[in-house]
Amino acid sequence: MKRFMEIKNGEKILIRHVKESDTDGVWNNFNEVVDEGIYLPVFFPVRSLFEKQSWYDTLKRNKEICIVAINPQLKGPQAVIGQCEISNLEWDAANHVGRLGIIVKNAYRDLGIGYLLIDTAIRESKKLNSKEKIILSSFLNNERALNLYQKIGFKKIGVRKKQFNMESKYFDEILMDLWIDDYLKTSKP
Ligand SMILES: CC(C)(COP(=O)(O)OP(=O)(O)OC[C@H]1O[C@@H](n2cnc3c(N)ncnc32)[C@H](O)[C@@H]1OP(=O)(O)O)[C@@H](O)C(=O)NCCC(=O)NCCS
Repeated sequence: MKRFMEIKNGEKILIRHVKESDTDGVWNNFNEVVDEGIYLPVFFPVRSLFEKQSWYDTLKRNKEICIVAINPQLKGPQAVIGQCEISNLEWDAANHVGRLGIIVKNAYRDLGIGYLLIDTAIRESKKLNSKEKIILSSFLNNERALNLYQKIGFKKIGVRKKQFNMESKYFDEILMDLWIDDYLKTSKP
């Protein structure tokens, strides 16, 4: 699966499944968001090669989905400008459910890349992994992410009040889900 798409600034990007050579780029993006300190309930960046490689090995072993956005003008880890993962849940009886996580590099936000990543990841997780429902959670104050999730059709399931504490401030967590067949009825590939 490969999709060449035009984003809102007129540039062309490539959307495809992750490769082992993307691992550093994926983790650089994750660490950048950890450093931003407002979007993920994580305090420490991931630096160890072992952790990065284990992530990739586990993803492949479990046949989980990770879709990346690539800037074809760039080389090496820099070329990976965003990623969307749909992972399995820990429960045997929830094989039909995937958990979504997404990151787009700061300089590339608000260009429609998040939408393209989620759209592709949802379609691929049904096709390759027989997922039926996608769940996610986010900080309730992450307006950009919520706007995107709602635009795609995710519905609010509930709010966990004061679920996170970062630098002595509490943050609420919103839980959302989406049935893939409902999404496919209303969206064009
Ligand atoms: C959330 C994220 C993945 C979205 O990716 P993206 O490529 O920026 O998303 P898109 O450009 O497809 O869509 C963003 C939408 O939100 C809108 N938006 C931007 N800022 C907004 C705000 N403060 N309030 C409401 N909407 C906002 C944009 O206008 C756009 O809507 P439109 O397409 O209707 O114009 C990305 O911004 C990101 O990585 N953020 C930091 C990490 C993060 O929050 N990850 C998710 C954790 S749950």
